[in-house]
Amino acid sequence: MKNYVSITNIDSLPNWVDEALEIKKNPKKYKNLGEDKTIVLLFFNNSLRTRLSTQKAAQNLGMEVIVMNFGSEGWTLEFTDGTVMDQGKSEHVKEAAQVVSQYCDVIGIRAFANLQDKEEDEAELVINGFIKHATVPILNMESSVGHPLQALADAITLAENNTKPKPKVVLSWAPHPKALPHAVANSFIEMMHLQDADFVITHPKGYELNTNITKGATIEYDQEKALENADFVYVKNWSSYQNYGQVLNQDKNWTITLKKLGAAKFMHCLPVRRNVIVEDAVLDSNQSLVIEQANNRTFAAQIALKKILENQ
Ligand code: CP
Repeated sequence: MKNYVSITNIDSLPNWVDEALEIKKNPKKYKNLGEDKTIVLLFFNNSLRTRLSTQKAAQNLGMEVIVMNFGSEGWTLEFTDGTVMDQGKSEHVKEAAQVVSQYCDVIGIRAFANLQDKEEDEAELVINGFIKHATVPILNMESSVGHPLQALADAITLAENNTKPKPKVVLSWAPHPKALPHAVANSFIEMMHLQDADFVITHPKGYELNTNITKGATIEYDQEKALENADFVYVKNWSSYQNYGQVLNQDKNWTITLKKLGAAKFMHCLPVRRNVIVEDAVLDSNQSLVIEQANNRTFAAQIALKKILENQ
C-alpha cells in the first residue's frame, strides 16, 4: 500500500483490525520499523485527537515527527494548473509538495471540505494535489470527503465491544448549530459496508448523504424506529449534501438521550457538543465508548503507517 487516503486502501479490514489489536497489546513492538524515517504532519484545520494520536503512533514506530499548522503558518496554496498567480495565492502545490517530500518519508494531511462548492470539495484538491506532486506516501488525516483513520479506529472499537455475530449498528444524525462536513459519516458508512452487521442510517429528510456512498445501506427517517434493538449507536452531525453545506434543521428531538439509547453502546468521533448532539447522561455513562474510540486512533494510525512503511 503506497498511500492511506481511503477505506478502499484496506485490503482486509478483519486482518487490519486483528493486527491493530495486537499492536495495542505491545505498541512498541515495531519500534525499529520507522527508524531514521520522518513524517511531516500538515494541518490545514484544527485538531486534538488526530494530531496527538498520529504523532504518538509514528513515535511508537520509531519515526521522527514534524508538525506544521499549514492553515495558519504556511503560504496560501494554488492548486489549479496554468493559473496566473497574481491574486492571493503565494505558492503552487507543485513546488510545495515536492519541497516537503525532501524533508520526510511520509506526509500526513488534514484538509477539510470548505462546504461552499461541492464539486471543488469532491475534487479533494489538497490531498490529490499532494498525491500527484509529492514523491513520498500520503496519509489522510481527514480530507473533504473522508476520515479513514477515524473509521478504522471505529472498526477497532466495534470489534473490541461486539458480542454478537451480526450486531445492529445505527448511524444517527444529531443537531448542531454549525455546518459540518460529511467526511466522518462517509468513511464510517464505507467501513460498515465491510462489516457483517445490520446497518441502518437515520436522519431527517434533506440530510441524505452521497448515494454513491450510502448505496446498499438501509435508510430510516424515523429515528425511534431505527434505534429499536440497536447494539451500537454512532452519532454524528453533518450538513445537508443536497443543499450543499446548509444547516436545514436543528431539531433537538434528534439529540441522543439515555432513554433513546436503551441498552446500546454510544459512539462519536469527538469533539462533541454536550446536550446538543447528546445529553450528559449518555457521555457520562458506561455505555459511552468515545474515550476508547479516541484511544484507538493511535492504533489505527499505527497500523496504517506500518503498512506504508513496510511498502517503502
Ligand atoms: N475525531 C477527530 O478527528 O478529532 P480531531 O478533530 O480532534 O482530530
